[in-house]
Amino acid sequence: MSIDKDNSSSDINFTSSHLKISLDKSTFQIKRAQSLQNIEKFWTEQAKNLVWNKYWDKTLEWNPPFAKWFVGGLVNASINCLDKHINSEIKNKAAIIWEGENGENITLTYYQLYQKVNQFSNALKNLGIRKGDRVTIYLPMVPELPIAILACSRIGAIHNVIFSGFSSTALVDRINDAKSKIIITADGGFRRGNIIELKKIVDEAIINTPSIQNVIVLRRTGNHIEMRGKDVWWHEIIQNQSSYCEPELIESIHPLFILYTSGTTGKPKGVVHSTGGYLTHIYSTAKWVFDFNQQDIFFCTADIGWITGHSYIVYAPLMHGVTEILYEGTADYPHPDRYWSFIEKYGITILYTTPTALRMYMRYGNEIPNSFNLSTLRLLGTVGEPINPEVWMWYFTIIGKEKCPIVDTWWQTETGGIMISHCTGIDIMPMKPGSAMFPVPGVDLAVVNEEGNTLPQNQKGYLVIRKPWPGMLMTLWEDDGKYKNNYWKFQNYYYFTGDYAIIDDELYFWLLGRSDDVIKISGHRLGTIELESTFISHESVAEAAVTSKPDRIKGESIIAFLVLKKDFVESDQLRKEIIEHIRNNIGAIATPNEVYFVDRLPKTRSGKIMRRLLKSVVSGLTIGDTTTLEDGTSIKEIQKIYNDLNDIIKNK
Ligand code: WTA
Repeated sequence: MSIDKDNSSSDINFTSSHLKISLDKSTFQIKRAQSLQNIEKFWTEQAKNLVWNKYWDKTLEWNPPFAKWFVGGLVNASINCLDKHINSEIKNKAAIIWEGENGENITLTYYQLYQKVNQFSNALKNLGIRKGDRVTIYLPMVPELPIAILACSRIGAIHNVIFSGFSSTALVDRINDAKSKIIITADGGFRRGNIIELKKIVDEAIINTPSIQNVIVLRRTGNHIEMRGKDVWWHEIIQNQSSYCEPELIESIHPLFILYTSGTTGKPKGVVHSTGGYLTHIYSTAKWVFDFNQQDIFFCTADIGWITGHSYIVYAPLMHGVTEILYEGTADYPHPDRYWSFIEKYGITILYTTPTALRMYMRYGNEIPNSFNLSTLRLLGTVGEPINPEVWMWYFTIIGKEKCPIVDTWWQTETGGIMISHCTGIDIMPMKPGSAMFPVPGVDLAVVNEEGNTLPQNQKGYLVIRKPWPGMLMTLWEDDGKYKNNYWKFQNYYYFTGDYAIIDDELYFWLLGRSDDVIKISGHRLGTIELESTFISHESVAEAAVTSKPDRIKGESIIAFLVLKKDFVESDQLRKEIIEHIRNNIGAIATPNEVYFVDRLPKTRSGKIMRRLLKSVVSGLTIGDTTTLEDGTSIKEIQKIYNDLNDIIKNK
């Protein structure tokens, strides 16, 4: 396995000419260069790998910034994940092996999954759900979650999955924005030995969601719950439903789902994905990156509530007829060995996880992973945040025993599928720990300056996407204006990713974190402005400024500076209450690590929060990094603010 160990630091000033020769001539680079000569032709070929009810008339309609892929084509996601397998040798193969937190397990073959999806599709139709209706899904990681998703896609209902760690306020916002007719939930979910009372959270939410006509409740924990007027049991509505439901003919450009994600504005954004383009993108990237074969046992550890779970648990592996592991619990409960024990137990061949999970495991030392047989592994993946070179090396040596290539995959909710990665299905390339390597074929990425001009290699700038790609979001749900403002700030219609990046001498991409007000806590995406609005919604808080600082395990942690209203006095009790308020209004993932009370927020003369200064103070960086960045404020003023804040932090 070729890795450039000398580059295992984040120092990107290196040369290794021996790599250059092999790189230029590699199958991968040739394929990539060819793909970019005519992306429409390239993606047309890829789309033919799907099952279409009708081929498209036009590959791409590009009315910047709106792209429509495979216009005129008809395609159904559930046919591509299920029907296509049931007349093949895959019919009785395990599709999903589910492991519950309490050690239960269930295996569903492709045929069984097909039947369950069909039955549930009929149940949804029976409740009046039709093509184009929105269905909110708020379930723990149980097999019924992919079943519900696939059932929606079968009848053309647009699913809107909400991570089961979110609060009732978060549910209300998302349900009302999408105007969902139905919400699917469970009597509870297991988390670290406790029961999360999902139904209670839904009960609270639906007081304020007039569009909801029914609540479908799955019995999971057996926990006592109150069934009310709109509530129906999952097991009751599927009774007597036929195990065949005629799939709808779905236009390629019909939305497959809405997934809400955090951005730089106060409210979460409803990212809308199409059917044909999205499926083509994730099918192709799964093939190139993971190189799936029929013997693979794939384990993606993401929650289906996030995009990684949508694309690389629900849709892509099933389209490829792969056997996958679905796990309900967390990586370290009841013991910090879950992933390693599953690898041994199920003979997992591909592990796709997050740098946060790896950092957590690393902390427990090598003995635990070394005590399991990990020899079935052939490929290791990461996603969601930059992976530190030390963690990369640990993954490579301790978990992969230096025989498994690593795929560090960069992408976003908005891109639908992987955009930068080592494509092991095309070519095994020399790896550099900490670099996500190269854009996948058919996507055109560049690094630009403030004006949108492409920068030369080795210069840090904004990562942009220069041409439409099939997994590209169609818009933000019912908000084309916000879609344009958020992503298309460059005149030349380069899609703005919000990430900093650098391309090195050998065209390797290095992701350098977000350039905007988005933060990543354990790989979960949160917006500082969304957090600030939630702080301010507490009765005691007049003003709030939120920033993040590096965290050894979580990647980043949340730090808040608050100005209290005049009738409130700071105390530890109040701090606790405010933290609880954040947890109740967003979810536990948004729990701040540090909350400071201040007399006034650091603001520029034009009233903007000095975000870079805040970041420097909390991260212990010198003020030198920030002086030029805070418009119109003198160095002296900034120095004073910096010192005052520093005192507050130190004296806490
Ligand atoms: C970050 C997750 C570095 C990045 C699939 C991006 C990464 C944001 C990587 C999207 C990676 C994702 N290396 N950073 N391999 N993968 N990111 O929408 O900042 O939850 O913009 O999608 O995660 O987060 P999202």
